[in-house]
Amino acid sequence: MERLQKVLAQAGIASRRKSEELITSGRVSIDGEPCTTLGTRVDTTKSRIEVDGVEITRQRLVCVVLHKPTSYVSTTSDPEGRRTVMDLVDGVPVRVHPIGRLDYDTTGVLLFTNDGDLTNHLLHPRHESKKTYRVTIIGMPEKDDIERLKKGILLEDGVTSPATVRVLRNHPAESVLDLVIHEGRNRQVRRMFEALGYPVKRLKRTEFAGIQLNGLRVGEWRMLSKEEWDRLYRSVNLEVPPYPEDLVHSFKREQIREKREAESDGVHRRIRRRSGK
Ligand code: URA
Repeated sequence: MERLQKVLAQAGIASRRKSEELITSGRVSIDGEPCTTLGTRVDTTKSRIEVDGVEITRQRLVCVVLHKPTSYVSTTSDPEGRRTVMDLVDGVPVRVHPIGRLDYDTTGVLLFTNDGDLTNHLLHPRHESKKTYRVTIIGMPEKDDIERLKKGILLEDGVTSPATVRVLRNHPAESVLDLVIHEGRNRQVRRMFEALGYPVKRLKRTEFAGIQLNGLRVGEWRMLSKEEWDRLYRSVNLEVPPYPEDLVHSFKREQIREKREAESDGVHRRIRRRSGK
């Protein structure tokens, strides 16, 4: 339940103060009944809110997670004409933007939203959102290198904050590590390993602010679950807005329909092949 003036302001009807004037002057109704009381709380998923008899369409906030492939830039457009991650989320029912960036050759978790507050909070150093990277490097790091990663490494833009490191595979040709950091400097992980003399061969972000891929295939996206949604907003001390349940359900229905169509296309193709038509 949210305050009526906030709902009107978020829907872009008017500023918070002008919205209050609209209410007190009797121009706003809830489910057909005029409402002139400031601070009235409404459930926007259930009530029909009208201004001068016209229903407001509140812009629902959404957040999706994409499994970013390599060879895509994370900006909304690219002067060099390369493919952008926006090409991969064009099925999202509202216009969203990426929360931060991954390098052209980095894969993994990239969040998108239409909520500017959420973006700013997640990217603000104060909230120190946790990022986990699976890093494949050329060479085998020494014990001392791991200690340096943990303590902080001097890069040209300053010493990195302490990191958590787990070595998954140690081999002279190629090693694999999980690195957890709370900063988001440009090309930070690659630069940290390069500073130690180990070129990064593959880089995948497996988690950002508690959100993981959960089996999402490369190039695919999904809406956050309600549990992820609540956890994400709380992780940056933001009030949790209404979960876009109807959008999530209609998206799931659409996915099931597309899957059935693809399966039925496959069956028809097989039948045609067998019957030689
Ligand atoms: N660090 C990097 O070096 N690259 C990324 O894409 C993300 C973090």
